[in-house]
Amino acid sequence: MKIKKVGVIGCGLMGHGIAQVAAQGGFDVVVVETAQEFLDRGVARIEKSLAKLAEKAVAKGKQTAAEAEAFVTSTRARIEPTLDKQRVAECDLVIEAIVENLETKQALFAELDAICKPDAILATNTSSFSVAQIASATRRPAHVLGLHFFNPVQLMRLVEVVRTDATDPDLFSAALEFGQACGKAPVSCRDTPGFIVNRLLVPYMVQAIQMYDRGDASKEDIDTAMRFGCGYPMGPFTLTDYVGLDTTLSILEGWVERYPDEPAFSIPESLRRLVAQGKLGRKTGEGYYKWDGDKRV
Ligand code: CAA
Ligand code: NAD
Repeated sequence: MKIKKVGVIGCGLMGHGIAQVAAQGGFDVVVVETAQEFLDRGVARIEKSLAKLAEKAVAKGKQTAAEAEAFVTSTRARIEPTLDKQRVAECDLVIEAIVENLETKQALFAELDAICKPDAILATNTSSFSVAQIASATRRPAHVLGLHFFNPVQLMRLVEVVRTDATDPDLFSAALEFGQACGKAPVSCRDTPGFIVNRLLVPYMVQAIQMYDRGDASKEDIDTAMRFGCGYPMGPFTLTDYVGLDTTLSILEGWVERYPDEPAFSIPESLRRLVAQGKLGRKTGEGYYKWDGDKRV
């Protein structure tokens, strides 16, 4: 299985980064959105990120200005943004990065199954759903696997490559190689809730939020404690704002419904309240903190 052309569905927080690292890895990329304004926003993020990476490479003496410019131009040229899903018909691998909702993902996978060529790999970037359940919406479960990237995709080295009981081992190997070609360190995971990272990370975020909801410590102090006590680059509240409160809530709602007896999975009161108020984190300018673009205010 040789992957050359990659489709990415969704050009939001994750999709734009996945499209970018795939293009940086030398793949031709088609990235699909539902509306022009979302597509434009995602492409603007890609261009800003490429400019930043180029600027840093020059500043560190890793590239000349001309090499950096060529990197930006050639990477951007490999990405075709479109509103037409049919454009992924010729892709060897299609990665879904849309909203964390099982029914929506299943509906998309049924559509992709009809659009994509028979030997194409269909991958999901889901944070929390069973890959097998998503695959069940297709007639090709052997061709379905998880490719779980981390936010921000351009900077985080990990990709979890997830196999179900039905995933074809050759396609799984091709997906591991794809992750490497995108400059990532791929790890193999079974199709269990949260795979490796989120099974550990999300319950930790829940514990931090519940500590704050009980009034045991301020969110600022909890963040400072985890940064300076554990060496984490961000504290749990900055991280929840970074991931998106809506995404975090969707992950937890799915788990609480499916595993009601698992004490590690519960939904903090403030998370529900803030999402109901439309305070989704950095992307809406407010979550646990207030944000002006990338900066906390
Ligand atoms: N593209 C290119 N450059 C970028 C960038 C991007 N998308 N984002 C940030 N940068 C640049 C910044 O501009 C900055 O450049 P300068 O040094 O020139 O100022 C540099 O990268 C470092 O960024 P920051 O100044 O913001 O500082 P940082 O050192 O804290 O690094 C970070 C940022 C890598 C995000 C770091 O804070 C970090 O690792 N945070 C934790 C992130 C994390 O845990 N992610 C996982 C979330 S969970 C998940 O993804 C799974 C899920 O399913 C929910
Ligand atoms: P997001 O809301 O930023 O982006 C989702 C994008 O998908 C939106 O721009 C939306 O317009 C688009 N979209 C929705 N339905 C579509 C469709 N049918 N066709 C094309 N585009 C469609 O969300 P996100 O944070 O990028 O999350 C995407 C996925 O990645 C989710 O499954 C999430 O759990 C997972 N994930 C998120 C993070 C994170 O830190 N936010 C990390 C890893 C994985």
